[in-house]
Formats: sequence, structure tokens, C-alpha cells
Amino acid sequence: MRTADTSKMTFSKIDPGVGLKKALGMTPDKIIGLVSDSGLKGRGGAGFPTDLKWKLAANVEDDLKYVVCNADEGEPGTFKDRVILTSFSDLMFDGMTIGARAIGAAKGIVYLRGEYTYLRSFLENKLSKRRRDGLLGRNIMDTEGFDFDITIRMGAGAYICGEETALIESLEGQRGEPRNRPPFPVNTGFMGHPTIVNNVETFTWISCIATKGAKWFNDIGTEKSTGLKLFSVSGDCKKHGVFEFPMGITLKELLEKVEGTDAKAVQVGGASGRCVPARDFDRTLAYEDIPTGGSIIVIGQNRDMLLVAKNFMEFFVDESCGQCTPCREGNVKLLEGIDLLLQGQCSMHYLRELCSLGESMQMASKCGLGQTSPNAFLSIVENFKDEIMGRTESV
Ligand code: NAI
Ligand code: SF4
Repeated sequence: MRTADTSKMTFSKIDPGVGLKKALGMTPDKIIGLVSDSGLKGRGGAGFPTDLKWKLAANVEDDLKYVVCNADEGEPGTFKDRVILTSFSDLMFDGMTIGARAIGAAKGIVYLRGEYTYLRSFLENKLSKRRRDGLLGRNIMDTEGFDFDITIRMGAGAYICGEETALIESLEGQRGEPRNRPPFPVNTGFMGHPTIVNNVETFTWISCIATKGAKWFNDIGTEKSTGLKLFSVSGDCKKHGVFEFPMGITLKELLEKVEGTDAKAVQVGGASGRCVPARDFDRTLAYEDIPTGGSIIVIGQNRDMLLVAKNFMEFFVDESCGQCTPCREGNVKLLEGIDLLLQGQCSMHYLRELCSLGESMQMASKCGLGQTSPNAFLSIVENFKDEIMGRTESV
């Protein structure tokens, strides 16, 4: 059973509008200083410092800037943003509005995952109410000269459109294919204008930080990974759902909370993440140790690790946009290799070649998808050597 006990989440104790009001009483520089003091890093998975992203966009001279909320939550095993969109969207909209004030943007866009179409009218109604309440539109909360509005745009079900430049291409009406970076969106984003693209959860924490202060957030977690984080937990444990834990929690502690201590491994970070074996459960979920956008897939003792790897590779073969060779061809070759292993027809030499191919994909692929798609396979081969090598052809 999947649960999200939202009453236990910090978000449920924060009144929408309070942080926004406080932030609008500050200068844009002070807002960025507040975010900086909190230590908040991107909650989509990459962990880029939010203050730095906003500062870079704020420093670019342009009359038109954009705030984009990446609600294209597509990582397998990730469903935390859906809880925010469903239960705490006003805090998220507040966070976007604070971001707009910080960088000098007048327009915001929520890029909503195609599979979340059922939430669109609910969110549109929330936006209409915000307009009526003076929380969007002209001179927001009587802040002279601060005009900002938010629209919702739909994705169409492609995982790659969660990559920020593919997302921007999609918003512009093009096929959702990643661009080369640099330039980064903070310089050249939507329609060529400076754009901050932040995750749903990142914007929502911004509202909490504006409400409760930077110190409150900074005092939680580790020195390099401050604050709280939502985790989507699925797989072979008793308690599934979305949980809030402090950054820096160990996998062992997390597994105790979700009653999955008997696990053989945990896939951290979804299909693009790494498979962590039981002997490493003392490691922490933190940017300096095992970073994650919050996807935790618990793998029980009876699972065949090769089938786990196959499942993820099938996903990437489907979702690769096909633009660059290492990813387009590499994912297919890795999947074929796993099938050979399953049939007992893969030599030790070929397995080494497959690992070398995976490493090349990590280095040579154009975007995060191809750079991370071999992670699961490589970490499974590395951490479950006996189980995988026992499947190689004996000749
Ligand atoms: P990245 O590290 O390249 O960039 C992260 C962010 O920092 C981006 O917004 C980028 O524009 C910004 N940035 C980085 N360097 C910059 C610079 N020099 N100047 C200005 N801005 C800069 O990571 P990427 O490729 O954007 O995202 C990969 C992550 O996404 C992975 O860690 C993965 O965990 C996560 N992911 C999350 C999914 C989800 O559903 N939440 C789905 C798939 C991947
Ligand atoms: Fe497309 Fe994959 Fe290349 Fe990214 S790495 S541009 S998804 S083919």
C-alpha cells in the first residue's frame, strides 16, 4: 500500500503566503542571501546550489526572464512531486513567485508531466484564486512594480523532457531534445531569455525557508547537504509512500523506518541512480555521499539482480531521444548484453567490454540521460560480482 502521511510533513505546518509576504519585504539581493544562508541545493537530483542559479540569472541584463517549475517528474520510483502538487501547490507557487522577485522575472511556467494531466484543472483553479487574492498579477501583495503570473504547460509523456533543455525545447514547440550546455538556461533559456528551472520540491522548500528562516533549514542535515527532503519509497519493504527525512540519513535508518531492513540492495535515484548493496547501508543520502532526487527502490533478497538491471535498461532504450550515438546505441547494446547473460551466452571478456562501453557512455553522452543510464548496470555488476559473473559462459 502506498501512503503519504502529509500531516507529518513540514509543508503541512507552513501557511501559504506567509513566506511570500516576508520575501517581498526584502530586496532581491537579500532573498538570494537568504537562500544562500539556508544552503538549499536542487531537489530534482543534481544538487546544484539554488542561490547560485538564481544569482547567475539575476545578474544577466534582460527585460524578459522566466521562472520554470520542472514538474515533469519521470524518474522511475519517483512520485514525491505529485504529493506536493496535490497537497501543497500554494507553497510551490509562493516559491516560484519568490524566485521571480529574486531574479526579476515577470513570467512563470509549470511544466507538468503528461501523466499528471488529471491535476491540470485543479492547479489552474488554484492559479485563478491566487489572481483573485492578489498573489499573482500586478503589484503582487501591494509590492509596487512587481508583476508576475504563472501558466501551466503540459508534457506529453517523454522522460527526456525532464532534462531542463529538452523541457525548454518542448515549451518552445520543438521536439524535446537536449541542447548543448553551456550556455545554461540561466543565460539562454526559454525563447533565449534567462530562465531558472527548478524542481517542484525546491520551490516548495523556498517558501518554508522564507517563513521559518535560513538558520532553521541550515541546522538540519549535514554541512554540505542541509535541510529536509522528500523520499519516494517503493519496492520490497512494508511501508511504501512519500516520507520526509533529514538530509544525511543513512540507508539503514531509512530502511528501519519503512520496514525494509532485510533488503539485499537499494536502488537510489531511480533507474539513473546506483544500486547500493546491503554492506553499504551505513552510507548517507547526501550530496557528498549518495546523491538522490529522492527515489528509493528497495530490492528484496529473492530478486534476480540481472532482471533488475534488465528492467532499467529496457526503460532507457525506450526513453533515449536518439540524438547522440553513445546513448542511442549504447543502451541497446547493454540490453542485448544482459539478455546474453540471462541466456548464459555472454563471455567474461564480453562482460568486460560491456562495462567499458557503459563507462564510455557516462563520459561521451550528450546529456544526463545517457551519462547516467549505465549506472544501474555498472553498479550491479560491481556490487554483485558473484551473482553476475556466475552467469557468464564458461568457455
Ligand atoms: P546538472 O548537474 O548538469 O545541472 C543541474 C542544474 O544546475 C541545472 O539546472 C543546470 O542548468 C545548473 N547548472 C549546472 N552547472 C551550471 C553552470 N556552470 N552555470 C549555470 N547553471 C549551471 O544536472 P542535470 O543534467 O540538469 O540533471 C541531472 C539530474 O537530474 C540527475 O542527478 C538525476 O538525479 C536527476 N533526474 C531527476 C529526475 C526526476 O524525475 N526528478 C529524472 C531524471 C533525472
Ligand atoms: Fe538524447 Fe541520450 Fe544523447 Fe541525451 S544522451 S541527447 S537522451 S541520445
